[in-house]
Amino acid sequence: MRQKLVAGNWKSNGNSQFVEQLLGALKAHSDQVPSEVEVAVCPPLVYLAKAEELLRGTAFLLGAQNVSAFEEGAYTGEVTASMLKDVGCQLVIVGHTERRSLMSEEEAQFADKIRLVLQAGLQPVYCVGETLEQRRRGEALKVCREQLLAGVAAVTPEDASRLVVAYEPVWAIGTGETASPEQVQEVHACLRQVLRERFGEQADLIKILYGGSVKAANARELFALPDVDGGLIGGASLVAEEFLAICKAGINA
Ligand code: PGA
Repeated sequence: MRQKLVAGNWKSNGNSQFVEQLLGALKAHSDQVPSEVEVAVCPPLVYLAKAEELLRGTAFLLGAQNVSAFEEGAYTGEVTASMLKDVGCQLVIVGHTERRSLMSEEEAQFADKIRLVLQAGLQPVYCVGETLEQRRRGEALKVCREQLLAGVAAVTPEDASRLVVAYEPVWAIGTGETASPEQVQEVHACLRQVLRERFGEQADLIKILYGGSVKAANARELFALPDVDGGLIGGASLVAEEFLAICKAGINA
């Protein structure tokens, strides 16, 4: 039985005061978070150390939104996986669609990032997902399959269980439009099958999250799908009450 994971991706939002307020509110109501659901927050990079201090002693996990594809050295501006580990992160989002489309990052870099993240003892949350045009052309499964295989190219079966995959259809991110439960389950089942072909029975330990306009109102139905192991939450993770309600939707879902 895979434990549900709900991860909040704050993107480039907030400031020091916001970090204190939001984490303060999450901590104050942490009794609402069911113990069987793992909850992570991914604030902007510069606030990770502050967030770690604020979350110390709680069950909340800390994640970064991005990581360097280089191990260490002369790479001005880059933050490495071992640095993220050093400041107390447990998770790192890799390959988010905004990195793919706005920062021109590609699969070869994601494969390097995932390798370094695992090597540093962190869990990568690797995002895959099709655009609306690709879905309309009937290529959703093919695109997700290819992105997944390329990203995990360097992952060994021993490390596979630490991998987390997030299916995030590009057309559902920040748009208010959520993929239907049938669409989500179809892609998740396909991703699970790809993971089985690649990693054997380890695949059953790998969490596959759904992301794209998840809110309290639709989380329970999505999280109850057989191959959905939680969610990667953007906009709704910036509001404590809404995020906590999504976390609660992970119980017995
Ligand atoms: P959203 O973002 O929940 O605001 O759609 C999800 C994501 O980008 O991870």
